[in-house]
Amino acid sequence: MMHMFSFLAVLLAISITYAAPIQYESKKIFVISQKPTLIPHYMPQAKSATILANVTDPDLSRDSCGSVKMGFRTLWTCRDTAIRVPGTNQFAFVFTNTAGWTDHQQDEAPAIQQGGPIGAGSDGTNSILLMKGPRPTLPTFYPLGPNMCPNSGACDDGTSRWTAWPDSPPMVTDTALNGTVTAYTWVSNNQMVSSSMEPLTPQPSTTLFKMTYTPDLNPDVLPAVSTVDGNFWGEHEIAYGTYGNVVKGEYAYLYGLLHLGGVALARIPVDCVENKSQYEYYVDGKWTSTKPAIDDPAAAVPNAGTTGQGTFYFSDRAQSYVWIGQASISVSADFYISTAPSPEGPWTSPYLLYSGSNGDGDLPSYSLQAHPHMLREYDDGIYLTWTQYFKPSTYAAYVTPLVYVSFV
Ligand SMILES: *[C@@H]1O[C@H](CO)[C@@H](O)[C@H](O)[C@H]1NC(C)=O
Ligand SMILES: *[C@@H]1O[C@H](CO)[C@@H](O)[C@H](O)[C@H]1NC(C)=O
Ligand SMILES: *[C@@H]1O[C@H](CO)[C@@H](O)[C@H](O)[C@H]1NC(C)=O
Repeated sequence: MMHMFSFLAVLLAISITYAAPIQYESKKIFVISQKPTLIPHYMPQAKSATILANVTDPDLSRDSCGSVKMGFRTLWTCRDTAIRVPGTNQFAFVFTNTAGWTDHQQDEAPAIQQGGPIGAGSDGTNSILLMKGPRPTLPTFYPLGPNMCPNSGACDDGTSRWTAWPDSPPMVTDTALNGTVTAYTWVSNNQMVSSSMEPLTPQPSTTLFKMTYTPDLNPDVLPAVSTVDGNFWGEHEIAYGTYGNVVKGEYAYLYGLLHLGGVALARIPVDCVENKSQYEYYVDGKWTSTKPAIDDPAAAVPNAGTTGQGTFYFSDRAQSYVWIGQASISVSADFYISTAPSPEGPWTSPYLLYSGSNGDGDLPSYSLQAHPHMLREYDDGIYLTWTQYFKPSTYAAYVTPLVYVSFV
């Protein structure tokens, strides 16, 4: 018996960092205060960063773009999008969200080109990742609800607007043998005061959208979008799926923000996204079918993101879950990273990975995003983008830089 304990003590001492020694029958042994973490956390650091291009359709000024691979291209969904007034450097007619495509090279890396049309983020000579898609007619990609002052979201009272801003790119749940892609997105039914951006409903309800797309050579063909439920999550409920998501194995893992800070997690079999009765929620370290309240601290998954905008993904290379995004209250292009062996955690304390350059406007940088699907199998790093916002006198369009950060 004594022998076994000594053996265990040695084993634990080498594998557990947080083991505390206690006395046991005149011998010091070690007990574990929490679940053993035998696999060390994946904690990549930046080795180098290469500023590659601006992601742009030069005739459009658009912010807060996120991306996902669909078929043989990358689909980008963005928030506010304005059209260039022909023959000028001015952009007008704001649409609340739009989508576009970028191409890949043969080896799957983004098809960056040297020079191109002049406009937003492009002086005709600098490198761009050219966004294509339906233009100049721009239907709102995620349609506004019938009560949301369609088609622009700006209401006739002139003081308020509905935003229909996607926080995360589409979550692909299926690619059929014939190539048809099915994806979903949750968008907050947010209405705000136009001038101050003050929300008129503090915890708005959430619309679930479904997308289906049969890959098409014509980049003007976008996924077909339908509204599954304009009130999928009710007002004052956790908006699972808006903060980010990861599809892994048979589950889609959905993150949502808690009211008083913190990030909550739900999961759903990947082929049942529309079926509310099959959702499970991670509360107090266990999966339960009872949805927690939006202010329940037991629903928080510590360090699963900072609550600033970012991207969740699974790194095949590192066999680790990763979150990359902005600090909780920040308007800088400082990318933080956190990793975990499972969607439920434990997540490492977020640490700084890379700092990009900022605009000089009121919101210098926001909507920090990672683009894991652009990686080739042998790439050890991550593609990042963010929105740079400048004073109109400095630069009159949103700029979306694309950077590759390699890891050590
Ligand atoms: C992106 O566009 C901005 C504004 O035109 C420009 O200053 C910057 O050099 C461009 N970045 C790249 C990588 O081309
Ligand atoms: C492709 O497969 C999906 C799902 O199996 C089916 O719904 C769709 O009609 C098919 N599309 C085409 C173009 O064959
Ligand atoms: C949703 O899931 C429940 C539980 O598995 C099932 O009984 C029900 O038929 C499903 N609803 C739909 C619309 O598929």
